[in-house]
Amino acid sequence: MNGTTADTETRSGSGSDELVFFVNGKKIVERNADPETSLLTYLRRKLGLTGTKLGCAEGGCGACTVMLSRYQTHTQQLLHYAVNACLAPLCSLHLVAVTTVEGIGSVARKLHPVQERIARAHGSQCGFCTPGIVMSMYALLRNNPTPKMADVEEAFQGNLCRCTGYRPILEGYKTFTVEGGCCGGRGRDNGCCMANGSGAEESSEEVVDESTSLFNAADFTPFDPTQEVIFPPELMSLTKGERSASLCFRGDRATWLQPNSLDEFLRLKWKHPDARVVVGNTEVGIEVKFKNMVYPVILAPAFIPELNEVRKTEDGVVFGAACTLSHMGAVLRQEVETLPPHRTEVFLAILEQLRWFAGLQIRNVAAVGGNIMTASPISDLNPVFMATGCKLTLFDKDGSRVVRMDDSFFTGYRRTTVRPQEVLVSIEIPYSKKTQFVSAFKQSPRREDDISIVTAAMSVTFHPGTDMVEALMLSYGGMAATTTLATQTEKKLLGRRWGEELLQDACSSLVEELTLDPSAPGGMVTYRRTLTLSLFYKFYLTVLQKLRDQGVKAEEVRSDCQSAADLFHPETPSSVQVYQAVPEGWGQDDVVGRPIMHLSALKQATGEAVYCDDVPLYENELYLSLITSSRAHAHILSIDTSAAESMPGVVCCVFADDIPGSNATGPIQYDETILADRQVTCVGHIIGAVVADTQLHAQRATKAVRIQYEELQPVVTIQEAIAAQSFYQPIRTIQNGDLEAGFKQADHILEGEMHIGGQEHFYLETNVTLAVPRGEDGEMELFVSTQCASKTQSLVAKALGVPANRVVVRVKRMGGGFGGKESRTTVLSTVVAVAANKLKRPVRCMLDRDEDMLVTGGRHPFFGKYKVGFLNSGKVVALDVSYYSNAGNSMDLSLSIMERALFHMENSYSVANVRGRGFLCRTNLPSNTAFRGFGGPQAMLVAESWITDVAQSLGRPADEVRRLNLYVEGELTPYNQILNQFTLDRCWDECLSRSGYQQCRAAVDLYNRQNRWTKRGLAIVPTKFGIGFTSFFLNQAGALVHIYTDGSVLLTHGGTEMGQGLHTKMVQVASRVLGIPCSKIHISETSTSTVPNTSPTAASASSDLNGAAVQNACEILEKRLEPYKTQNPKGSWEDWVRAAYFDRVNLSANGFYKTPDLCYDFDSNSGQVFNYFTYGVACSEVEIDCLTGAHKNLSSTIVMDVGHSLNPAIDIGQVEGAFIQGLGLFTMEELHYSPQGVLLTRGPGSYKIPAFGDIPTRLTVSLLRDAPNDKAIFSSKAVGEPPLFLAAANFYAIKDAITVARGESGISGPFRLDSPASTERIRNACSDRFTKLCPPAEPGTFSPWSVQV
Ligand SMILES: Cc1cc2nc3c(=O)[nH]c(=O)nc-3n(C[C@H](O)[C@H](O)[C@H](O)COP(=O)(O)OP(=O)(O)OC[C@H]3O[C@@H](n4cnc5c(N)ncnc54)[C@H](O)[C@@H]3O)c2cc1C
Ligand code: FES
Ligand code: FES
Repeated sequence: MNGTTADTETRSGSGSDELVFFVNGKKIVERNADPETSLLTYLRRKLGLTGTKLGCAEGGCGACTVMLSRYQTHTQQLLHYAVNACLAPLCSLHLVAVTTVEGIGSVARKLHPVQERIARAHGSQCGFCTPGIVMSMYALLRNNPTPKMADVEEAFQGNLCRCTGYRPILEGYKTFTVEGGCCGGRGRDNGCCMANGSGAEESSEEVVDESTSLFNAADFTPFDPTQEVIFPPELMSLTKGERSASLCFRGDRATWLQPNSLDEFLRLKWKHPDARVVVGNTEVGIEVKFKNMVYPVILAPAFIPELNEVRKTEDGVVFGAACTLSHMGAVLRQEVETLPPHRTEVFLAILEQLRWFAGLQIRNVAAVGGNIMTASPISDLNPVFMATGCKLTLFDKDGSRVVRMDDSFFTGYRRTTVRPQEVLVSIEIPYSKKTQFVSAFKQSPRREDDISIVTAAMSVTFHPGTDMVEALMLSYGGMAATTTLATQTEKKLLGRRWGEELLQDACSSLVEELTLDPSAPGGMVTYRRTLTLSLFYKFYLTVLQKLRDQGVKAEEVRSDCQSAADLFHPETPSSVQVYQAVPEGWGQDDVVGRPIMHLSALKQATGEAVYCDDVPLYENELYLSLITSSRAHAHILSIDTSAAESMPGVVCCVFADDIPGSNATGPIQYDETILADRQVTCVGHIIGAVVADTQLHAQRATKAVRIQYEELQPVVTIQEAIAAQSFYQPIRTIQNGDLEAGFKQADHILEGEMHIGGQEHFYLETNVTLAVPRGEDGEMELFVSTQCASKTQSLVAKALGVPANRVVVRVKRMGGGFGGKESRTTVLSTVVAVAANKLKRPVRCMLDRDEDMLVTGGRHPFFGKYKVGFLNSGKVVALDVSYYSNAGNSMDLSLSIMERALFHMENSYSVANVRGRGFLCRTNLPSNTAFRGFGGPQAMLVAESWITDVAQSLGRPADEVRRLNLYVEGELTPYNQILNQFTLDRCWDECLSRSGYQQCRAAVDLYNRQNRWTKRGLAIVPTKFGIGFTSFFLNQAGALVHIYTDGSVLLTHGGTEMGQGLHTKMVQVASRVLGIPCSKIHISETSTSTVPNTSPTAASASSDLNGAAVQNACEILEKRLEPYKTQNPKGSWEDWVRAAYFDRVNLSANGFYKTPDLCYDFDSNSGQVFNYFTYGVACSEVEIDCLTGAHKNLSSTIVMDVGHSLNPAIDIGQVEGAFIQGLGLFTMEELHYSPQGVLLTRGPGSYKIPAFGDIPTRLTVSLLRDAPNDKAIFSSKAVGEPPLFLAAANFYAIKDAITVARGESGISGPFRLDSPASTERIRNACSDRFTKLCPPAEPGTFSPWSVQV
């Protein structure tokens, strides 16, 4: 029974209330709602609604987005809003309607247009992000059926996708917008913007068979907002009847009390001063999940009227503390529209902060009071509240008081003057005065949905009609343990005129006042200190401009400085995709070469696609949680599991002794252990596991395991490894020509070095394994999200001590892989198999995001050192380069990765005399592994560094030096492979012309002359990527094709589907060879029991290898069917199949393919390493803000030779997805490790992959026409990895812009820029008057927060 009238306090001794809510129209009455259960867990585990995905559990990826609807009795309105189900407490949902992706449509029933359009526009690759994106869009349309593109972009601020590069999602959803022509394509003949399918600009070149259409919007089901699911009438009447409820829910460890009045709230807070107040749970949820906090009493005041009211007073607007940020934003926007501008300066500053505050799903639930009371030093709102003197009303049982948010409000790290029994009831935000100017700034690594590095708000008031400072408040976040005011500086500037002298004094004073210890948490100390000045300078310029606009005589802002004060406003991206269409008259049945949709896309968009963790629970299934090392290098002295084993639900612990077979493991060398044996060699090293009845119980018990270590000295960084000569063997060398003679011949020699940071795969679906013992003969079946089923099979068999024929590994699909699920998946699957074997029960584990990031390694960080000799013309004649990779604590695939790096050391440039050496650093980090590009991108980025240095040192345009050194047809690579069918020059020329390079260069130069503090840069960069496994035996594949008597075909091949569209391409191949429509062909899964001994789905070669194997199998079958076709030429496919069957013909065939002629010998430097090369060129233009280091990707033009594309939509998807992943690698994604080897960035909150807002404003992708490749299936080429490197164009465009900025300070010549070109690196490299005031601390004199590994 619900406690609608009873007081929670008086009932707090009794049992729980009923929680009543609706899910997809169905009423749910939960009698045991646990305050610690999230909506996501409930949906997935209790209701079996697995369409909603778990990507991070911290509100940072949007995979769990659902829509909540509630009827607001006070406004009598329905409210629909998107939220993160992973952070939404189940108990907060009383009288709420939840809509999940399953609730809006399905393939079986009827698709919702939101589901259909993302799929048909090719916006779903692995599909793991898709339900969340679908629900964000759905919630937007429920509120606004005719949105603008800006609304769509805002709706997606909290959603991430790692596969698509976002462009196709935006393109598909543009069809709902006013800009996109919401006719849904029905007006195509009347000039609808979607007439060319993508809604993109027309290509400038008119070529008959050139297509720019990847989908046909006319095929879309029209969107009719009147057909939406209605709010449940029963819920409406329940809500109206119940008004505000006072509720109590009790769980194992926590009690949720939802008071229905302020009085009750205050009484409860008095009684439970330590109770946690929860409104949006976006702070508390993180504390409970990741900081292991337990809050026995939770007070939920979200529906108390006083905490939700919005009231206008004479001085400003009062917001109840539980008002959500979205609501506050809406109210302030309305005020800005109606009030005179001088009164809304504070509101505008808040709106500017809200624009970049988290994503919409968070803003929809997070309360303004929660932000204040969390007292985070990097809160984005507190600086504004503080700089503008907002007033807070606090209540306790006995009364209220009003406090001003000044420098006495925050008393320490996450502490305030608010007393334990008090609560915050409201905040008053003041109107600004006529002579007051306010600005707010936020600088973060990524613009959207990111935590601030430094955040600031500044307010100045002038004596009327003058530029004389009357009052000044400078508030900063990120510079101390609390939000802080620069009171000393403020005082010094009072009464001063707003001019250059004040600026100088302000800067010298801020530098003194806002100091940071060089070891300060968060690092980036020099950058943060510089930012305090840069942001003040921006404020200074803004105010000068505003003073002059008001007619006050103030210093003039130089025209070239004006852009420094501009606020960043995103522009809606536009794009063009160009490919060669199949010739006219080409048989309609032949789908090869056509942009057909990913075959699972619709299921992915409806949530019906089954991923590993969506497999329904087995009846007696258990859950496993890993016990990992917290030390980088140590002996294990003891492990105490007694506390863990006595915890609820725990079944047992698993350690090395439980492994019946061998504990030695590893993909190539067995140099690792499945479970650590006495010694750990990295933080995250797996020591054991706890198995329990539920995930929660297993994870809680894991935290109770006590381990004692004897610490040993770790080697963490490449530099430490070099100093200690800590290398794996062998050290590889490729040498060609005569290096000595080359350097002698050179007119100039220069040396340089560069570090390239690692990269986290960030597949949206983390590693997951479900192991099911079969009960006899040691058989076990595993469902694994892996790129390599066979390796999993063999390593599990080895661990269990059984032959491989007892282990079946099944892979339906992965939610992304990118190399991260090639070898490192076995670190989990072997442990789960051992546990399942020990208990003879099914065991499952899906790693949490932080565990996955900690345990599984990523892309190798590289350090490159080079010496290059070149002629006056710019021609490079000698190159000596050494690469050092941070391999981590085991060999894994590091040698092959280094070999590929060496095979790409010259990128696309012909260098006659060359030596490359590769050193694998053995360190105490988790083993690094395969990642799209496999060492190639790191090596090529170093190549682009020396070619840039050559151009800079000669003062020549970099594009000319690149072109001069570009290979030509027939030349030999350093490893003596001849370049045949060389198309790079064609890609280059097409890229130059499509990008309008020369005009662009002139415009960039002009812009740079006209702007001092923002600079533009331009770069064109080529790539040549070798195709094939360099472990030559892996260049083989198998396929198995069954034809059933009804004519349906079951296709199996050795490759796995991770979103790259491999299965779709394989069906296209089979369809062409068998001459039947794709609809007759089905791929169910990849399994070791159908195609054995498979190579990993990797090296971009899976379509080539598996495609040829499928072709082989289908040709065999085709031949067997030929007689029946001849006998009955007018018959159907089904007739021929039946006839063959009755004639006792085998309708099952096995296909096989191996790439011919591959071999290479390092000693003699001879053989053929690659089957062929994929070529591409990209040209990018960027703009940097020299003061903050932020950058915008203005445009990118990519020309890629993918041969005759098997499927242009999939290939363009690969190009765009890889390119954006490369953008992350080279400009954004930074893993931070402590000097002790602890990974500090373990989730989307701290590790930033590109988001929707990071894609180039203009993106053109063109697949090179007339470029058949005779080395692969149907003249196609591999595409998965090669385009990733092309994002180097953005890195070097940034470097180009920095060069110009440095020129303004009189600095010229080559300089080192490490990757990624983060905001910090860009700012620090733009040396100027502000950076000079903040010199870095002497290295070696302090212990930094994080080190470059
Ligand atoms: C993915 C993500 C992105 C984020 N991005 C940003 C960002 O860009 N900028 C930023 O500043 N923050 C950000 N945050 C932090 C967080 O969203 C905000 O601080 C938010 O405003 C907290 O509100 P809440 O209602 O969710 O707080 P809750 O988690 O419900 O509560 C937070 C704290 O406030 C206390 N509290 C709440 N209300 C009261 C009250 N009335 N009286 C007394 N105490 C109270 C609670 O006891 C608790 O300690 C982000 C968080 C996440 C998860
Ligand atoms: S799983 Fe909820 S936001 Fe990532
Ligand atoms: S399709 Fe978006 S994460 Fe894979």
